[in-house]
Amino acid sequence: MYNSFAAPQAKGKAANDIIFAANALAVADAAAIGAENVTNGTIGAILDDDSKLVCLPTVEAVYRNLPINEVIAYAPIAGTPDFLEKVQVATFGKSRPNGFTSAVATTGGTGGIHHAIWNYTEAGDTVITADWYWGAYKVLCLDMGRKLDTYKMLTDGGTFNLPALTEKVNALLAKQNSIMVIINTPAHNPTGYSLTTEDMEQVVAMLNKAAEETGKQAILFLDAAYIDYAGEKDAVREVFKALDNLPERVLAIVQYSMSKGFTMYGQRLGAMICVTSSEAAAKEFFEINQYTSRATWSNNNRAAMRTLVQIYSDDALLTAVEAERDHYYKMIKARADIFVEEAKACGLPMIPYIAGFFLSVPCANSQAVCDILHKDHIYLVPLAAGVRIALCSIPLQKIPGIAAKLNDALKAVEAAKK
Ligand SMILES: Cc1ncc(COP(=O)(O)O)c(C=O)c1O
Repeated sequence: MYNSFAAPQAKGKAANDIIFAANALAVADAAAIGAENVTNGTIGAILDDDSKLVCLPTVEAVYRNLPINEVIAYAPIAGTPDFLEKVQVATFGKSRPNGFTSAVATTGGTGGIHHAIWNYTEAGDTVITADWYWGAYKVLCLDMGRKLDTYKMLTDGGTFNLPALTEKVNALLAKQNSIMVIINTPAHNPTGYSLTTEDMEQVVAMLNKAAEETGKQAILFLDAAYIDYAGEKDAVREVFKALDNLPERVLAIVQYSMSKGFTMYGQRLGAMICVTSSEAAAKEFFEINQYTSRATWSNNNRAAMRTLVQIYSDDALLTAVEAERDHYYKMIKARADIFVEEAKACGLPMIPYIAGFFLSVPCANSQAVCDILHKDHIYLVPLAAGVRIALCSIPLQKIPGIAAKLNDALKAVEAAKK
């Protein structure tokens, strides 16, 4: 007899992570026929063209040279003060928005998404994100008794679909005391799409209008996990100027993660940074999120804090890290260029790719499409809205041919429907 000991809110929960499942199939195939014969496009980490997991060399040198006390000691729960300052430099660069900002250390980017949902939405509320979204958003919402709803991210012309977002915001604000919108930009996972500064200004204006009309409030959560591989560093950060002098009913939270920018995925460090025109709201942000840190993981990885602080306090180290990021940005871009060119040549539909670890192909029945590709030993990730290709992890020499095979698989699935 099976007894469940789980409390009602936990009963039946199981994280069936499709990304890890697709990766497991690729790993098993590689063990059977040799990794050189398998294309594993499921992993969200940078692998070089020899399929080796990349660690930025300067990050490694700084990390390995830390005094042992800086590795083993506790950090303050909110993060060391120098980390909380330098992480804002890393996030905003020359485009720090006018207003009050406050930062709290988080376990990777995920930790801040967790805290924001927990502290800025009510039980039963619905959070909004795009129809193409990172699956963890939903797990985080559901685990905390919230729901996730989506809007169609792009218009048919491939531009940001503000009208679709506006409609969802208005519908939900009619029912809830506040609204939280999560936008993953720049270099969105899973499509590689980025909002322009103008798009962002319009989102802020729309949220303000909706909040004013209802007398309610809006939280704009910008997940910037991929910002360090999104293009020229100052140009991509200009989008934060849209957060200058925010209206009083709108709070922005920008989430930085060291997972990608420092290739320190497993070290689990990031920071959530609020932007607001209210000093009191910034103080409250610091206090409530620090409290939730105490109530979840307590303190974060001190060695990762020191690594970021050392690099962002030393021009030579920062220049070296930026050159290394640029090298890998170009490595991924070279892969994308081939894929995009081949996709155009064979007529494969694609979400407009701007930069980042992934690109996506819209289709129905993505699981069936991915299953067909397994015959060619190609492993991609089936999502609700289509198929995700992790350019970050496929060596350049394995890219040619994927687009055409994907297109054939798409056509085979469509033909089977008829
Ligand atoms: C869209 C998105 N946001 C945030 C993250 C942050 O991840 P982590 O918690 O590992 O920093 C990821 C990582 O895969 C991501 O894809």
